[in-house]
Amino acid sequence: MTLSKQLLVLLISLPLFGNISQEQQGKKIYLKADCQSCHYQDTNFDSKNNKVKNLSDLDNWIVGCGLKFDTNWKSKDETLVLKYLNNIYYQLDK
Ligand code: HEC
Repeated sequence: MTLSKQLLVLLISLPLFGNISQEQQGKKIYLKADCQSCHYQDTNFDSKNNKVKNLSDLDNWIVGCGLKFDTNWKSKDETLVLKYLNNIYYQLDK
């Protein structure tokens, strides 16, 4: 998914969620999907081999691991998880 699409998804989903921050929503989605059986959770996310160099790499991994482990995430959910992981761990701005 391209960055502009992600932004669009974000803008569309914003009004649906009251006051909870997007990072908090992403955290819930991430923790629910049991990603932490391999990656650590919360602020200790473990990136394994650190292959992610930019946000689109990160997006690809989230989509890829998500598909593989059958999360049924919508692109909206992936965007929130991306925000969460980027916020606690990667700190990428592009
Ligand atoms: C069965 C174990 C397993 C589960 C469950 C799993 N992953 Fe992964 N994930 C891996 C492995 C192994 C790698 C590294 C693969 C490699 O380097 O070839 C990886 C890599 C990643 C990366 C890239 C890390 C980096 O910085 O290089 C992200 C992001 C990621 N996973 C997110 C997720 C998310 C989100 C979920 C939950 C849907 C998830 N993973 C569930 C095993 C898992």
